[in-house]
This record gives sequence, structure tokens and C-alpha cells, in this order.
Amino acid sequence: MSNSILRKKSVTQAVGDTGGHQLTKILGVRDLTSFGIAAIIGAGIFSTIGRASLAGGPAVSLLFVFTAIACVFTALSYAQFASTVPVSGSAYTYAYVSFGEIFAWIIGWALILEYAVSNMVVAISWSEYFTSMLAGFGVHFPDYLGTDYGSAASAAEKLRAGTETLTDGEKMLAAAYDAAPSIGGLKVILDLPAGVITVLITSLVYVGIKESRAASNLLVVLKLAVIALVIVAGAFFVKPENWSPFAPNGIKGVLGSVASVFFAFIGFDSISTTAEECKNPQRDLPRAMLYCLAICTTLYVLITLVLTGMVNYKELGVDDPLAYVFQKVDMNFIAGVISVSAVVAITSALLVYQLGQPRIWMTMSRDGLLWPKFAQIHPRFHTPSFATIVTGALVAIPSLFLDMQFFIDLTSVGTFFAFILVCGGILYLDSSGLSAQSKFKVPYVNGKYIIGIGFVLALAYALSAGAFTAGLAEKPLLIVFWLVWGTLSVLAFRRNFSLLPVLGILTNLYLMTELGITNWVIFVIWLVIGLVLYFSYGYRKSKLA
Ligand code: ALA
Repeated sequence: MSNSILRKKSVTQAVGDTGGHQLTKILGVRDLTSFGIAAIIGAGIFSTIGRASLAGGPAVSLLFVFTAIACVFTALSYAQFASTVPVSGSAYTYAYVSFGEIFAWIIGWALILEYAVSNMVVAISWSEYFTSMLAGFGVHFPDYLGTDYGSAASAAEKLRAGTETLTDGEKMLAAAYDAAPSIGGLKVILDLPAGVITVLITSLVYVGIKESRAASNLLVVLKLAVIALVIVAGAFFVKPENWSPFAPNGIKGVLGSVASVFFAFIGFDSISTTAEECKNPQRDLPRAMLYCLAICTTLYVLITLVLTGMVNYKELGVDDPLAYVFQKVDMNFIAGVISVSAVVAITSALLVYQLGQPRIWMTMSRDGLLWPKFAQIHPRFHTPSFATIVTGALVAIPSLFLDMQFFIDLTSVGTFFAFILVCGGILYLDSSGLSAQSKFKVPYVNGKYIIGIGFVLALAYALSAGAFTAGLAEKPLLIVFWLVWGTLSVLAFRRNFSLLPVLGILTNLYLMTELGITNWVIFVIWLVIGLVLYFSYGYRKSKLA
């Protein structure tokens, strides 16, 4: 059995195995960079950066840099894989080649968190900006049709209990609960704009990649223009005294924002799902991934410094921080422009994930791990039609009814996990000699001694500063990090591991331990459900079987 669940695809098999279904090859490096930026800049920078800044203060800008470094190691690994196995399916296909079928399935299952579940967050965030944009034009959208049931009900309960002071947002939610009509005793409260925008974007993706490309390029130009506006206009209002203290809540406050900051970076990897539609994936995918990561990191750091420089970080606990800071300095026109463009920006992020998810399912279905319908290509539009429709329903329905916070953490855990396996996969490519086939390689620095020396020094420091036991008491998951680092030190010594992928594993794993045990538990439950599905279908139907 262990042989069959660990059966691997050869690179030739992975590349040749498109089951006779071919997608149109039209994407170049500019399109890919544009898709990347469309995916990266979205709800994260327009919404969650506010609460991240509230928790960590101006120093959150450094967390963006640290997280970006983890992403660069990961992007290099993705790029090497994409140039070795240039087919749709991304990390799923990479795991199939390097670790075997069961890992491929697990990654494919985890990627649903990164694409579909994260898009629920993006859709809900879109809806928030959309309704506040309407309000700016004097149109009041009924609040009970612009939020989820749970949030409204809990705000109403809090109001009735009368024991705590409600924020303005909670007062609005409680009023929405009371105003909502009932059908058969059940309150009608749903996030209608989130569902509707998901259906509209899914229809665009269904109709074709060409149309998606045109839309994506246009939306990205608009988005970058707005970000530039915030940075340039905001710079005039920066008061350097707002930057001190730089880390008001210490390292703990900064690291508490990992999920939100990481969420803002998710997406640079998604362009690897379009490898099959690239004109020259070996050359263009690595370049595009690094370009968009560099551009976005620069913009994020600048935006964080501008926001925390314009107002005191304590004021940033809002869902529309970019517009809010301009209201605070009485620049209402700019605030309005930002609200409108936030709606546009978030729309383009939605597009990329709705495009990526069906392509992963299509690849899994070609391999026999999912039902054949998921690989069906539309005769006229040449897109994976059935998988696209399922993605639409999967994202639209929960986004109508559920709260976003839970999904942010869940998305981050799943994505860190996928990133770690992709970095680990490079070590496999190196040791199995497959790297010789890669047209792009992660630059090789011999990690034989460095990884172990780093481990000993870090451990010695942590032990002497008392940080080791204190850290473990607070975050028991750190033990996983230390164990993995120790193990990698031994393996690196024996097998001359490449340094950068190992750093990718360690930085991602460290950030993942910051997410807290509840998220890990939920993630494990998600994996168990996935495994049940695998053994009841994919294991038997796999083409490799
Ligand atoms: N990075 C994407 C966003 O911020 C997920 O919306």
C-alpha cells in the first residue's frame, strides 16, 4: 500500500499528460506579472493591513519585509518547479513529481484553502468596500443584505446583554439584525454583493482566458495607480513623530499580525497555475514571480509607513484604512477615489483565484484523482467549464453566509503548508538529479555547515536568553520548528542541501507557528476529510494505479 500511495509521476509524464485537452498558449511575462499583481494586491492591503498596524504599530512594515523574504525563497522554488514541470496544477503537480501521490493529493486539498477559501475573504471584503462606496454616493444598501448572519446575531446579543460598549460597526450590525425581515421565523441576513460579484467574475472566467487577460491587465494598471496615489499624496501628511514608538507592542504585537500580513502576499504563486497557457513558461514564470513580489513588497512597506505616519497606529483598527487616513486629514475627495478603486482592485484579485482553482482541479481530474467531469474543456471557450462552475458555487455560497476572520487564518495555514512542501520538493529535485532538467534553478549555496551552525547558534542564544522555554510555554508549536531545523541540519550535513529552499522551509514554518494551535487543529481536520475522500475515490481511480 505504501508503494501505491507514494507512486510518483515522472516529469515527462506530468508534462505530456494533458489527456488530449489543450489550453491556448497566449500569456507572456507582462501578462503573468500583471496576473501576479492582480492576485497579490487585494483584500490584504486594502483591509487587513489596518488591524495588522493596530496590533504591531509602524514596525509591521518590517514584518512585511520578513514575510517577503520567506516568499522570495518560496517563489524561487515555485519558479524552478514551474520551469521543470510547466503544466497547470502548480504545487499539486510538483508534489506528484517529488513526493508521490498522497502528498500531491494533500497539497491539492490544501490549495483549495489558498484559492477558494481565500476568495471567500476577498469576496466579503469586496462587498464591504462596495456598500461603503454606494454610501459615498448617497445610496444606502440594506445592512442586513450586506453582512453575515453570525456577525449580526452576535452584535444583537451583545447589545441586549448590555454589559459591553459596542463599536460603531457592532451597533450597525445589531440594527441590521433587528431590521432584517423573517421567513418562517428565520432572519434573512446575507452578504448579497459578495455572492453576486463571485457569480459575475466566475462567468467572465468561464467565457475565456483571453477576456480574463484583458480585464486583468486593465484592472492592474488602475490598482497600481491608486496605490501610488496613496503613497505619494499620503507622504505629504506624514508626521515622523507618529513612527515613535516604532514597535509599541513589541515583537509579540508585530508577530501577532502574521496571518494578515501573509494573506496580503498570497497569490504570487498562483501564476504558476497558468503555465500551460504561457508562451515560454521556463523563461517567463520565474521572472514574473520575482518581479511581482519585488513590486508588491516595495508598495506594502511604503504604504505601511505612510499609514502609520499619517495617523497614530491606534486609529488604524478599521476595515478601510487607506480611505480612512485621508478622511482623517480632511482629504475627502482622495478618500472617495480610494474607496471606488478599492472595489476595482479587489475585483481583480477575485478574478485570479477563480481562474486558478478550476485549473488545479482539472489537473487532478486528468490524473484520475477527481471525477472526469472536472477535466472537461468547453468546446467553444476552451476553459475548464465544469470545474469553473463548481468553483463559483463553492466560493459564492459560503461568502453569502459566513464571517471572514476565520477564513483568513485558515487560508494562511493551508498556504504556508503548501509553500513548505514546495521548498522541500526542491531538495528532492536536487538529490534525485531531476534538477538537471530544470531550465531555471534556485541559486545553489551549499548548506552543509551553515544550516547546522545556524541551528546551534540560534538554539544557544534562545537557551541563554531564556527565550527557549518561555517561547515553548507560550507557543508549543515552536517545538515543531526546532525539531525540523535540527533534522534539516543533520540531513544538510549529509547531503549538501541547497541553502535557499531550506531557508524557505524554516521561515515559512516559523511564521506558521505564529498562527496558533486552533488554526492547526482545524487544518488537521481539513486534511483528514481530504484523506477520507482520497481513499474512497482517488486511490482506486488514479491513472498511475
Ligand atoms: N493577497 C490577496 C489579497 O490580499 C489574497 O487579497
